[in-house]
Amino acid sequence: MMDTTLWYKNAVFYEISVRAFKDSNGDGRGDLRGLTEKLEYLQTLGVDCIWIMPIYPSPLKDDGYDIADYYNVDKTYGSLDDLKELIEAAHQRSIRIVMDLVLNHTSDAHPWFQASRSDRNSPYRDYYVWSDTNQKYKDARIIFLDTEISNWTWDEKTGQYYWHRFYASQPDLNFDNPKVQEEMLNVARFWLDLGIDGFRADAVPYLFEREGTNCENLPETHIYLKKLRSFMDEHYPGRILLCEANQWPEDVRPYFGDGDEFHMGFHFPIMPRIYMALKKGRFEDMAEIMRRTPPIPENCQWCTFLRNHDELTLEMVTPEERQWMWEQYAYEPRMKLNLGIRRRLAPLLDNDRRKIELANSLLFTLPGSPIIYYGDEIGMGDNLDLPDRNGVRTPMQWDDSPNAGFSINEPYSELVKGKLGYQNINVASQIDDPDSLFNSIKRMIAIRKKHAAFGSSQMEWIETGNPAVAAYIRQHEEDTMLILNNLSGSAESMMLPKKFQQNYLDLFAQQKYIIAENLTLQPYSYLWLQMQR
Ligand code: GLC
Repeated sequence: MMDTTLWYKNAVFYEISVRAFKDSNGDGRGDLRGLTEKLEYLQTLGVDCIWIMPIYPSPLKDDGYDIADYYNVDKTYGSLDDLKELIEAAHQRSIRIVMDLVLNHTSDAHPWFQASRSDRNSPYRDYYVWSDTNQKYKDARIIFLDTEISNWTWDEKTGQYYWHRFYASQPDLNFDNPKVQEEMLNVARFWLDLGIDGFRADAVPYLFEREGTNCENLPETHIYLKKLRSFMDEHYPGRILLCEANQWPEDVRPYFGDGDEFHMGFHFPIMPRIYMALKKGRFEDMAEIMRRTPPIPENCQWCTFLRNHDELTLEMVTPEERQWMWEQYAYEPRMKLNLGIRRRLAPLLDNDRRKIELANSLLFTLPGSPIIYYGDEIGMGDNLDLPDRNGVRTPMQWDDSPNAGFSINEPYSELVKGKLGYQNINVASQIDDPDSLFNSIKRMIAIRKKHAAFGSSQMEWIETGNPAVAAYIRQHEEDTMLILNNLSGSAESMMLPKKFQQNYLDLFAQQKYIIAENLTLQPYSYLWLQMQR
């Protein structure tokens, strides 16, 4: 039996915008009770853990990542009691819930910042990073390139600049102030006491600033994060920390520490390479980044994803690769955002069922615990008419009734229009159809969960003589899986090394599968095969 505190190593995650998921009270905005109503759906799909995006009171200048009160739920989502009910109901279905913990910054509407900017002598002045000049930390990049021109903003009243890595409405907290460090531990304690199973820790590379550095991944940051971890281990064993550090694998590695910092970290660089692989019909870029991924401690796990609530980020590719990705996947200028592409999975993959399944085959069989972005399991579309990242945060498409079965009233957002809108793409039409995308994904999840090998860190690429076929072994004890993915749009033949020419069980068809010398895979098809001894 596996240590249950290591549950996340074999879990399937699912990311939810509460506002977008299900409206229970008819105000057009999704809420916690709506989500509670839909837990059965998530259980049917096979989800083990949900990540909910920020639900704190917020002026919503960054969709809730601008927090005005760390100790409450925004009324539009419900109450703290609703959250408790959600957690209990989820636990009854063996579903865990992690939430966003935004350490780096608050909203400018937060009382700390209001006090801080009211007077240079305010006891809260030092909760934020102030300076007489905007010439400090010049090596720190600007992240929201399309909107911000500097990481400093001038404050008229007190005559100084304040520091912010994201929107100017999100001032950075000053982690050099021990009070700030303690405040954030208190915030964590509050939600853990409420029963939350852990946190997706937002934007952690940027907690500290030091002259002469790019102000990312600093040693001070790791010291603080280790404090947070040991606090959680001491009082809340089994709860997890998931790291959002959009960095190269060697730079994410320190966030796992010696198994004493984060339990999990998103694998940002593999994500765009899955899209590169599908477009080029070549697996090499994926293999290269996996080779470049250092081993992580036994009690840690990567979190892999195809899409999330942000733009498909292209920070972890070379400038040439970025240009190429934009040409391939963001051929209309409005599809671009900052250093990324603001589109959803299905439209990115031309709504081609074969490619969507293939991308998921990679997601569910590469090392790491996979996370699904809500709606991608049914192939939902996006709405490019909406600004910023809102086009991929539209209401979940439950059925083909008006408002997509999301709300009895007009939703907070325009819905997806056209072919991938709710009239054609919705849960109701897919859930009982064995041939639907939903059911294909559900089968992948079910198979994945039966084999501990998928949660292990072991992976071995197999030489097939064909660069279009991503072939690898996933193994745990006696259970060995051979995974074959044909990334190209043509049928591809290959020859596996002698030792792999043997009998298998096709895990989808549940039939014997014999590999003799040559093997041909249909365009964009995949096979998950279990070796028979
Ligand atoms: C993270 C979030 C993103 C947010 C930013 C600032 O990158 O994923 O949505 O805008 O942090 O909080």
